[in-house]
Amino acid sequence: MKKEVLITGCSSGIGLCCAEGLRKRGYRVFATARKQSDVERLTEQGFEAYWLDIADSSSIHEAVAAVLDASGGKLYGLFNNAGFGQPGAVEDLSREALREQFETNVFGTLELTNKVLPVMREQGAGRVIINSSILGFAAMSYRGAYNASKYALEGCADTLRLELAGSGVYVSLVEPGPIRSRFRDNAFALYQKNINPENSVHIKRYQAMEARLLKQGPATPFTEGPEAVLKRVIHALEAKRPQARYYVTFPTYLFGYLKRILPTRWLDELLRRVE
Ligand SMILES: NC(=O)c1ccc[n+]([C@@H]2O[C@H](COP(=O)([O-])OP(=O)(O)OC[C@H]3O[C@@H](n4cnc5c(N)ncnc54)[C@H](OP(=O)(O)O)[C@@H]3O)[C@@H](O)[C@H]2O)c1
Repeated sequence: MKKEVLITGCSSGIGLCCAEGLRKRGYRVFATARKQSDVERLTEQGFEAYWLDIADSSSIHEAVAAVLDASGGKLYGLFNNAGFGQPGAVEDLSREALREQFETNVFGTLELTNKVLPVMREQGAGRVIINSSILGFAAMSYRGAYNASKYALEGCADTLRLELAGSGVYVSLVEPGPIRSRFRDNAFALYQKNINPENSVHIKRYQAMEARLLKQGPATPFTEGPEAVLKRVIHALEAKRPQARYYVTFPTYLFGYLKRILPTRWLDELLRRVE
């Protein structure tokens, strides 16, 4: 019997790569996306594809019902991958922009997780994987909304792990550094929508940020392909004792280590230098 895995945000990047990779590995993949055109494209590619916008509770309800209907009420794995980054200095973030960031990255992820946990508890087995980030434990300038959302996810995942102990359901965080995807293009669009650099004391730094977001090719020399995440997702699904955290890319290992050994003041000195 194929194990079922539901993945969010399969229109591009990490989600699409994991949908393809897990299907190849023999999983029954429920690939979801928030745009109907992407759902159709995924269906054409042979996926069992569903519309799922995690910022919308009714969409979560509908998608979970449809997936469970198709699977006969079973679901082994959930990969909470969907998310985006709202760029901008903290003091330039409107309440609305912050709310949108949290509606998707945090509230949607948790609402979806809570919808499938009863199924996993009932099975006595399940894997919940949450795509966090290096920015879920190391804050960097002009990424405050995103940092906050990923820190919040880390807090909830750490709590859930304690609450699920002994249930047979495991929760793992994946913490990628720079990965090739549409992330920066999508972030640039949100920057244009929600930030007005002309009105900001940070106008000079925004110019550098724009250059970084618009840069063609890999963002850094350490950028890896989305397969690097797939590898950790496979481990989180298949290991007898999955890890609580999976580091991905060199910067995550480096800052994970530095965060453990350096005083905050020293770490800030380093993090301030990251564009
Ligand atoms: N790329 C990196 O360097 C990096 C590093 C660390 C962590 N991550 C995390 O990896 C995850 C995937 O990002 P990616 O790098 O693959 O970027 P991406 O190519 O932009 O993919 C993001 C996916 O999330 C979807 N999404 C956004 N809001 C959604 C919503 N409300 N409901 C459902 N789907 C939604 C997007 O759909 P649309 O196409 O409709 O926008 C897209 O499918 C994110 O959680 C991100 O925070 C990425």
